[in-house]
Amino acid sequence: MTEKIGMGRRDFFKGMSLIAGGATFGLTVKTGHALGANGIEPAGAEALDYPVQDLSAKISRPVTVAVMGAGARGGTYARYAERYPEAMKVVAVADTNPQRRKAMAEKYGVAKNRCYGDFHEMLAAGRIADAMIIALPDDLHFEPAMEAMAQGYDLLLEKPMAQTEQECLDLLKRQRETGAIVGVCHVLRYAPYFRALKSAVDDGLAGEVVSVQHMEPIEYAHMAHSYVRGNWHSAKATTPIILAKSCHDLDIIKWLLGKRCEAVSAEGSLAHFRPENAPDGAPARCTDGCPHEATCPYSAIDIYTRRRKHMHVFDLPKDCTREEVLEKLRTTDYGRCVYRCDNDQCDHYVANLRFAGGVTAAFSMEAFTPWGGRRTRIMGTRGFIEGDGTKFTVYDFRSGSQRVWAKKVSEIAEYKGSGHGGGDLALVRDFLKAVDAHDESMLSSSLAASVESHVMGFACERSRLSGRKEPVPTACG
Ligand SMILES: NC(=O)c1ccc[n+]([C@@H]2O[C@H](COP(=O)([O-])OP(=O)(O)OC[C@H]3O[C@@H](n4cnc5c(N)ncnc54)[C@H](O)[C@@H]3O)[C@@H](O)[C@H]2O)c1
Repeated sequence: MTEKIGMGRRDFFKGMSLIAGGATFGLTVKTGHALGANGIEPAGAEALDYPVQDLSAKISRPVTVAVMGAGARGGTYARYAERYPEAMKVVAVADTNPQRRKAMAEKYGVAKNRCYGDFHEMLAAGRIADAMIIALPDDLHFEPAMEAMAQGYDLLLEKPMAQTEQECLDLLKRQRETGAIVGVCHVLRYAPYFRALKSAVDDGLAGEVVSVQHMEPIEYAHMAHSYVRGNWHSAKATTPIILAKSCHDLDIIKWLLGKRCEAVSAEGSLAHFRPENAPDGAPARCTDGCPHEATCPYSAIDIYTRRRKHMHVFDLPKDCTREEVLEKLRTTDYGRCVYRCDNDQCDHYVANLRFAGGVTAAFSMEAFTPWGGRRTRIMGTRGFIEGDGTKFTVYDFRSGSQRVWAKKVSEIAEYKGSGHGGGDLALVRDFLKAVDAHDESMLSSSLAASVESHVMGFACERSRLSGRKEPVPTACG
């Protein structure tokens, strides 16, 4: 084992690299440490040194941004302007929710005449910023994206970019006609963990990749919150869960392999969250005196008032009382019994994917897990890589060596609060750079790259419904 930087100095150097601005957070530390989780990492593994880039865009002027949708995602991306005002300025906001609209306007000093309700009002004002962030609900991406590109905007566009394959292709056509810089919010591509994993694959640490296993464990309470009670409970109103949730995963698998996906075969269903599975006597809401409240894993009272998870949807102050939360459970969908929610999203979904050259991937989306965090196994001709979303181990067959990438991104001050393993703000950084330089190649998740993985999702859904293997059309021609 070698150690270039003593363990006691690691935190010091992390801090130094932030101050240095242009520096990366990479440390070449080769030392033994038992990481434990998954039981896969050996004590005595060497550390892999793929660096973590800092979050500053380092551009010479602030890119002005109009935000459509001041909810969870719009608020997340806008936060970049708070941290790096020299690189981004929020100059307009549209949201039908007056509380959210006002909060964003006040936070970023948006002029009154640049605050809009419905997104159409903002579009009617013409081009009022360099770029637009579209963080509206899934069914409101296509129309404003098409119109904004026509008006000359560059776009940061939430996924899924549209609700049908044809609309995705129309967006690509419009982007090519207008030359707009469009970044699709496939945030995982920007997370330091996935960037390091991609580098390990591209550097051939496992040899030629032959197959991949990738699992997205949604986590049972997150499933209940978002895909049973919440915004994405209806595949028809939004998109099927393979797009609404797992377009990230299809995108990551395709990106890691760097090959075209040729055919897919998928299965899946809504097994559990159905009326016939409601326990005897369960009322419409957990707050209606349900006799199973004390033992049901999906109790809204437990998830929201005791564990206080996913609280942002209520627009309540951080120090809200239990009674205030209970009132939300009595009056919004978040208090409904999970067996009586008019939901139709699959709670388990598997897909086999065939890529060019016969490379295969097996994907599995699972609602019933105690934790989230994507798990990936990469099988190559010379080695094997296994990761859990925060750290990965590379096994080399011939030498028997085992190397670990395990940089603690969440502990890097600059990355605190940047969700998706740091990917959220790193995406904004790269988007601003691409807009500033008018160079799409500075963005990993360009529209063209993202259409490819969306098309895979639509093919999976066709396969799941038809029971047949489906070819994946060439999206980008
Ligand atoms: N990239 C990711 O990892 C990721 C994660 C979660 C959600 N998403 C996607 O981001 C999008 C937004 O999700 P969210 O969680 O922020 O939802 P959200 O409900 O928190 O925010 C959406 C906002 O749009 C506003 N809105 C609705 N209709 C409007 C209209 N006609 N005009 C103006 N404003 C309107 C709502 O009031 C709300 O504040 C969705 O498409 C979702 O699928 C992406």
